[in-house]
Amino acid sequence: MNNDELARRAGDLREVLRHHDYLYHVLDAPDVSDEEYDRLFRELRALEEAHPRLRTTDSPTQRVGGSPLESFQTVEHVAPMLSLDSAQEEGKLRRFDERIRRSLGEGTPVEYVLEPKLDGASIELVYEDGALARASTRGDGIRGEGITENVRTIAAVPLRLRSVDRPVPRLLALRGEVIMRIGAFEELNERLMPSEKMPFANPRNAAAGSLRQLDPGITASRPLDIFVYDILGFAEGTDPPETQSAGLRAIRDWGLAPSEMARRVSSVEEILEYHAELLEGRGDLDYEIDGIVIKLNDLAHRAQLGSTSHHPRWAFAFKFPPRKEISRVLKIVPSVGRTGAVTPIAMLRPVELGGVTVSRASLHNREEVARKDIREGDRVRVQRAGDVIPQVLERLEEPDRRRGRRWRMPDACPSCGFELVERGPFTVCLNSFDCPAQLAGRIQHFASRGALDVEGLGEETARQLVSEGLVRHVPDLYALDVEQLTELEGFAEKSADSLVRAIRESSPVELRRFLHGLGIPEVGAAVSQDLARHFGTLEHLRLASAEELEEVEGVGPKMAEQITAFFDNPRNIALVDQLISGPVELIETEGASDASGAEAPFEDLKFVFTGGLERWTRGEAKELVESLGGRVTSSVSSGTDYVVAGSESGSKLDKAGELGVTILDEEGFAALLEDQVGA
Ligand code: IVH
Repeated sequence: MNNDELARRAGDLREVLRHHDYLYHVLDAPDVSDEEYDRLFRELRALEEAHPRLRTTDSPTQRVGGSPLESFQTVEHVAPMLSLDSAQEEGKLRRFDERIRRSLGEGTPVEYVLEPKLDGASIELVYEDGALARASTRGDGIRGEGITENVRTIAAVPLRLRSVDRPVPRLLALRGEVIMRIGAFEELNERLMPSEKMPFANPRNAAAGSLRQLDPGITASRPLDIFVYDILGFAEGTDPPETQSAGLRAIRDWGLAPSEMARRVSSVEEILEYHAELLEGRGDLDYEIDGIVIKLNDLAHRAQLGSTSHHPRWAFAFKFPPRKEISRVLKIVPSVGRTGAVTPIAMLRPVELGGVTVSRASLHNREEVARKDIREGDRVRVQRAGDVIPQVLERLEEPDRRRGRRWRMPDACPSCGFELVERGPFTVCLNSFDCPAQLAGRIQHFASRGALDVEGLGEETARQLVSEGLVRHVPDLYALDVEQLTELEGFAEKSADSLVRAIRESSPVELRRFLHGLGIPEVGAAVSQDLARHFGTLEHLRLASAEELEEVEGVGPKMAEQITAFFDNPRNIALVDQLISGPVELIETEGASDASGAEAPFEDLKFVFTGGLERWTRGEAKELVESLGGRVTSSVSSGTDYVVAGSESGSKLDKAGELGVTILDEEGFAALLEDQVGA
């Protein structure tokens, strides 16, 4: 190709990639596979590497550049980023509505746009001539911190606006909320847990903390997403939208995702209905919302009402009751996980939190207990966020009560007696192979849904198997017989028989599930899938150097080190060999770079879950679908293939009906899994 042709090819590739980004992030309806996308991306990167002059700053390859900053710069916002007036009481909402109607004058038709109130970190995005020029945190509302390099790493933020459906103004300032989806948040915390880093208390902290990293490389490794809900500023000379609804449509056309589920209404009754619907459906979402936002639709009406120095008079946040409650710590118990980390668990007087009874909450680590100064007997505030494990937020003062002693982490492992060591704020038992608690944890993990998927082998059974000496290491599972199991408490002939059968039937197993089941620190289900796809066989993976491992997307130096360390350990090798030379047959794909057929029967299929399932938690169901190559999204669109409806499912079901999307009940979903996997 000559120079012109090369430049044209690079331009075309950028445009195609941007189009796929739009389909994926905004329309939630990708029309190419990950592999095809990667192929285009690699072609562009290779072109730019061979001809650096073809590189542009808004190229999709240029998301992570820049070296770490010394400090953040202060950036003035294009327009003040105001706060919202908010309340939880219906009366206050009614007064807001009355005030609006009175100010606009009797008889003026009033229309509101309702949106979910996203619980993340608010940022400003400024586009100049269509290119992302800067991004900043909200700060004091007038000035924030410049976090441009970090925001560039968020895949859902286009580096160049789309101009296909409408012209792009010379200057455009947008406001949106950076969020972390709950599943991604849990995976991140799991990844941070074994190292010296502190897990985040909730997705909002994780999003805000990830944005405020001086090293954009760290932000890039954090699964952030964004919804955009407001146009803060617009260049003169172009016609700005006249309503919030038109603004949201424009945001979408420019290639950013507006907040989902916006609705236009004109009465308080409809607002109450929307509030109730979202409150009930909040558990269905894979991100956190803490209320709804009510905004006057007509921008001319807004200008008429104006703002106080704190909040606009035309908007109101009608909040949900918090999922926090007060309880008492009955006892603090150290619990040893499969990686050897010892977590202090607060045993609580049971409380109802967002519809679930909670009697245990994590205190994370030794330093957290000390920092919050939580002792047995204390009155505490407990929080449950989404599907996340409940946590003890803080201690409540009780001046008249004599408190117990400070809690101390024991010196020896409560399970095996091995001396515990400190790793930063964490405490670990290094007796990995011979510590019963770690073994039980590993067995439970090995048998979990995203791994070997052995039904009936949960926490309690794993513990029993270990404490009764029936299983001394994972391969022993396959030697269990019905007679041994019937001796365990809670087992009868029939349940023993089905467990033995379930264990036997867990083989053959796809490589990615097996890998996940090994429980290599930092290696979750998603990475296991990438590794399996990249290396094809266990043998290839096992022989890979750290450098070769890092070629896999999502594998950084730390993870590569964990993987090589795992396969350098003769005891791990012996266990793996014992499994694959005997009871476990691996399904591998030689040199596979495409996940097709048996590897990913759900490839390209999109699922939406609504309502509660009996057999699986939402997280497990998602993991299942993803482990088969499918995707789980939060809202129903014409691109959705299946809506799985559990008990008490709401509006998503109606939407599915309208769009003619196939609806499955839990049984139907189970049958589909069985068909596909032969499980
Ligand atoms: S509009 C001046 N819309 O809530 C009005 N804000 O408690 C601009 N927030 O700082 C805000 N979801 O970060 C708006 N759909 C939404 C929102 C939203 C979440 C945040 C925003 C604001 C905070 C106020």
